[in-house]
Amino acid sequence: MRLDGKVAIITGAASGVKGEVMGYGGATAWLFAREGAKIVIADLKEEQAEKTASQIRESGAEAIFLKLDVTNEENWKSVINTTVSKYGKLDILVNNAGISGPSIIEDTPVDLWDLQHDVMAKGPFLGIKHAIPEMKKSGGGSVVNVSSIFGMVGSLGDGVYSSAKGAVRAFTKAMAAQYAEENIRFNSVHPGWGLTPLTVEPFSDPAVLEPKLATVPMRRLAKPEEIGHGILFLASEEASFITGAELVIDGGRMAW
Ligand code: NAI
Repeated sequence: MRLDGKVAIITGAASGVKGEVMGYGGATAWLFAREGAKIVIADLKEEQAEKTASQIRESGAEAIFLKLDVTNEENWKSVINTTVSKYGKLDILVNNAGISGPSIIEDTPVDLWDLQHDVMAKGPFLGIKHAIPEMKKSGGGSVVNVSSIFGMVGSLGDGVYSSAKGAVRAFTKAMAAQYAEENIRFNSVHPGWGLTPLTVEPFSDPAVLEPKLATVPMRRLAKPEEIGHGILFLASEEASFITGAELVIDGGRMAW
């Protein structure tokens, strides 16, 4: 039980329904449940998230769904207040919610830039802003931000996504330095391509998938739990001296 008694909020974790394509957050919720955490699944997708939470409860673990738009500060306050009033504290925050969308820069509307940065950069900022006071009260905590390999190198044809994921990568390090003395750790995970609800449609087209896999030494997509294991490690006490680090999980894509 690597997270025994810990209370964790995971954003964007709706897609954890058994028998369906799982997302990184959904797979992480199952791993956290197995390791003894009490989990708050925070997402926009009500039906799917309720189903994930109820399946986790049926497995014998503690989980609830709370509706959250990560771009909305009032929503964040309410999710964190409800978490603390139900479970007594907050130990772990996983900022995983994300969206995608290609952006040829000359054709990119400002709204798309704003939305991607709102969800993937402002969202983690708001979560962290409101989680920190609770983590200070519990004597520490762990924040894992799900960035991407494209927060480290440029994504061809998806520059806005790269910018948002790069922002959260740098923000993670700033927070790590600022809150180390409070015993709150901040790390980022940088997944490569995986088959999730976000990608299942484009990646079912071999013309899209094959050129991508040609750049991955392992020649396959990530399984969602392979990303979840990295998040679990960083969230757990096994990573107690790790802060401001970035964990790449990409089948070798960044190695050449
Ligand atoms: P997913 O679709 O399972 O996860 C994204 C979740 O975020 C969805 O459940 C969605 O409802 C939620 N979400 C979107 N906007 C939201 C908002 N405003 N408020 C609350 N929730 C919101 O897909 P996946 O692929 O598991 O994505 C998880 C994270 O992994 C994302 O941050 C994504 O950018 C990142 N990632 C995914 C890769 C992939 O190949 N699938 C590669 C690298 C990073």
